Amino acid sequence: MTSFSLGEQLQDRFLERAACIGIIGQGYVGLPLALIFADAGLRVIGFDTDPVKVDCLNAGQSFIKHIGPERIRSGVDSGAYRATGAFDELEQCDAILICVPTPLGPHREPDNSFIHRTGREIAKRLRPGQLVVLESTTYPGTTTQELLPILQDGSGLIGGRDFFLAFSPEREDPGRGDYTTRTIPKIVGGIDETSTRVAVSMYSTAISKVVPVSSSAIAESAKLLENIFRSVNIALVNELKTVFDAMGIDVWEVIEAAKTKPFGYMPFYPGPGLGGHCIPLDPFFLSWKAAEHGRWARFVELAGEINTSMPEWVVGKTADALNDQGKSVKGSRILILGLAYKPNVDDDRESPSYELISALMKRGAIVDYCDPYFPRMARTRKWDFGLESVPCRNDIFRSYDAIVVATAHDEFKDQNLYRELRLVVDTRNILVPGRIPAETPWLVRA
Ligand SMILES: NC(=O)c1ccc[n+]([C@@H]2O[C@H](COP(=O)([O-])OP(=O)(O)OC[C@H]3O[C@@H](n4cnc5c(N)ncnc54)[C@H](O)[C@@H]3O)[C@@H](O)[C@H]2O)c1
Repeated sequence: MTSFSLGEQLQDRFLERAACIGIIGQGYVGLPLALIFADAGLRVIGFDTDPVKVDCLNAGQSFIKHIGPERIRSGVDSGAYRATGAFDELEQCDAILICVPTPLGPHREPDNSFIHRTGREIAKRLRPGQLVVLESTTYPGTTTQELLPILQDGSGLIGGRDFFLAFSPEREDPGRGDYTTRTIPKIVGGIDETSTRVAVSMYSTAISKVVPVSSSAIAESAKLLENIFRSVNIALVNELKTVFDAMGIDVWEVIEAAKTKPFGYMPFYPGPGLGGHCIPLDPFFLSWKAAEHGRWARFVELAGEINTSMPEWVVGKTADALNDQGKSVKGSRILILGLAYKPNVDDDRESPSYELISALMKRGAIVDYCDPYFPRMARTRKWDFGLESVPCRNDIFRSYDAIVVATAHDEFKDQNLYRELRLVVDTRNILVPGRIPAETPWLVRA
């Protein structure tokens, strides 16, 4: 059978909702994706190497706060969705989507080993007429230069002829209300025209707008451009924060004023540093790959340098403010408000709060944290503080020498929480000017 007719057959299966979708990696990206395909009437199998996650999902439970367990339960109960660790079941799948982690190594080098391992698992079972799509964020060229050879060598099949292969970047933004996995437009770039067409028809079953591009490298690069754009603009406003601070100018008020311009300006906000799985890491995929081509991605490196220096800047401001009160950091009791990297989510990956805690502890402070989304601090790859959240109450806050607001959770917006405190260091502009209780004499923006 020609690749064209294999592709037509597969497209028909998607159109008739007769296809089975396999999604490898049931985390922040893979799970919501699985659920929208199940909602669209397709059969979905979620693959994960973590048996605890698999059991939890099959029992209809959620381990991600913004994904309600009722959505998982409805998928499991209707038979549309189930999770498994048995990779032999990949054979049943018409499409296989890869949503595994792509971390950076200790020297900020991309670690694509999860993609490679997954590729080898797929290759062992790959059969003619299947579609494979990589969704994990990576540098340009991964799909054709790394995944394609792994799939071909392990299966003896030829990509574009016997099976189809594409890249489609995930744009998941946990906790977002205005756009969902279904309504965020999805970019798709195949290794050839048929792969793109087949992948577009697969995503169109569940996603409102699918945007085909001419190659997998364009799709890989578009994802990096989006994240570098954010990283660079956040770095710009973080740097301006330090400049305006030295001039005695409030950067938050400057931004509010600038954003009244109806065109040519888009507000970005400063903070204690970058967090999340994407923005602190993904830009370095490009700078690493650029070096291979004899190029420097200077904006990426500079933005990284500025953004990663922010926790130290906040600690410096805290130390100065304590000093003004005749106190040292050493021995002071300091409370970090918020462990999550952004408001109202239970996601603490790469959160700058950990850097703040570590830097303050190194200077001898006695540090606690408060975050209703994290009653207990889990051990991460880098950190193991073993702390528990203190209650979010004014009488508790009052017992600290300093409160550092690191996350703008809604729970922290009650201005009464900040009554009669000794020192508040606000990195998120959460204390509303004019509404700050008069009894709070020490407010520092950082
Ligand atoms: N989290 C986001 O908001 C976001 C947004 C856009 C893109 N991404 C990208 O999507 C990819 C996945 O990120 P995530 O946030 O879903 O990660 P995650 O850590 O939440 O989930 C990954 C899942 O993959 C599983 N896993 C690891 N190795 C596996 C293997 N060999 N086989 C099967 N399962 C395996 C893990 O157990 C975990 O459940 C990354 O490349 C990330 O950069 C993430």
